[in-house]
Amino acid sequence: MKRVGILTAGGDAPGLNAAIRGFGRAAIGLDMELIGFTGGLRGLAFNNYIDINSGSLGGILTVGGTVLRTSRDKVHRMMVDGEERDMTAAMVETYERNNLDAIVMLGGGGTAKNALRLVKAGLNVVHLPKTIDNDIVHTDDSFGFATALEIATDAIDRLHSTAHSHHRIILVEIMGHKAGWLALGAGIAGGADVILIPEIPYSLDKICETINKRRAQGKHFSVIAVAEGAMDQEYAEKMAVANQLVKDASSPEAVAMAKRSRAALADTRRESTFALARQLEARTGLESRVTILGYVQRGGTPVAADRLLATRLGTAGAEAVADGSFGIMVGTAGAQVAHVPLTDVAGKVKYVPQDHDWVKAARQVETGLGD
Ligand code: F6P
Repeated sequence: MKRVGILTAGGDAPGLNAAIRGFGRAAIGLDMELIGFTGGLRGLAFNNYIDINSGSLGGILTVGGTVLRTSRDKVHRMMVDGEERDMTAAMVETYERNNLDAIVMLGGGGTAKNALRLVKAGLNVVHLPKTIDNDIVHTDDSFGFATALEIATDAIDRLHSTAHSHHRIILVEIMGHKAGWLALGAGIAGGADVILIPEIPYSLDKICETINKRRAQGKHFSVIAVAEGAMDQEYAEKMAVANQLVKDASSPEAVAMAKRSRAALADTRRESTFALARQLEARTGLESRVTILGYVQRGGTPVAADRLLATRLGTAGAEAVADGSFGIMVGTAGAQVAHVPLTDVAGKVKYVPQDHDWVKAARQVETGLGD
């Protein structure tokens, strides 16, 4: 009988419990014994776990968040007693002490990196892709995204009627970290008039052009979907230079210095959606307001598509463990489940390609992309 540990790591996302249930039920059906580490990687570091059986997997399919709780802890840099520690050895010890044959980690890009660290430390690891950002490479889907898309689209729908009633510009800031999938998808589905994503840096002039064109057509309001990572062209150029300086730095001190100046640059755009609203109001004379959707996008019941995906990937993860396929992410490629080596996933980000279908579709329905 195989003994397997499971944990959820990184930001929570709708569908995590459906994946825990899918994995757990299939694993028990394949004659495995399960324990669930609590609070993400911290649970693995400090041997905090709960036993999982069929009973504990009941009633969680539709529940948001994660019953195992989560954290953004890292394997090699965890805050313990006020200082940062490498907890790799402690995690290996927990694994061995519990006689585990494998550990299954549900999480996003950061979790893929942590999973690879544990693979390098000798553990058998399977990673299941979870994120509302849809930014994990080599998988078409990640659970959480479909629900967040639904929530953000609903918000845009609702903001339309208030923008229209007041003849205002409403900027709605949408999550997605450094990628624009969620803002672009929700912007298209909700019919936003302008969509700003990090992959297409914007110019204020171009946004004003779109708004003024709408006014000429008698439409005195606009809804703008702004990805949280969106940036103007000037900032994007400065950031490209700062990134290059980090890459080119030749000593650890030089890297640290280059990173500090890049962080200082990043600080200058903290309030950027509000700053953009002020600039648009000044330029167009239309009252402008900001709505930050924030954590609402990650909360609550997963939609059917996420429950289905999480169940598919969870059960496929159990099969991977049974087959002894480790060091992989279990993702999707079209209608199929795909096993992808973690070495191909960790440290990479799936950005929106400039020529992606969604980008083309947005342009074809006359949505401004700010460029
Ligand atoms: O990765 C999911 C995500 O919600 C991003 O969209 C967002 O940038 C980030 O997490 C927020 O992180 P935290 O939960 O640590 O505030």
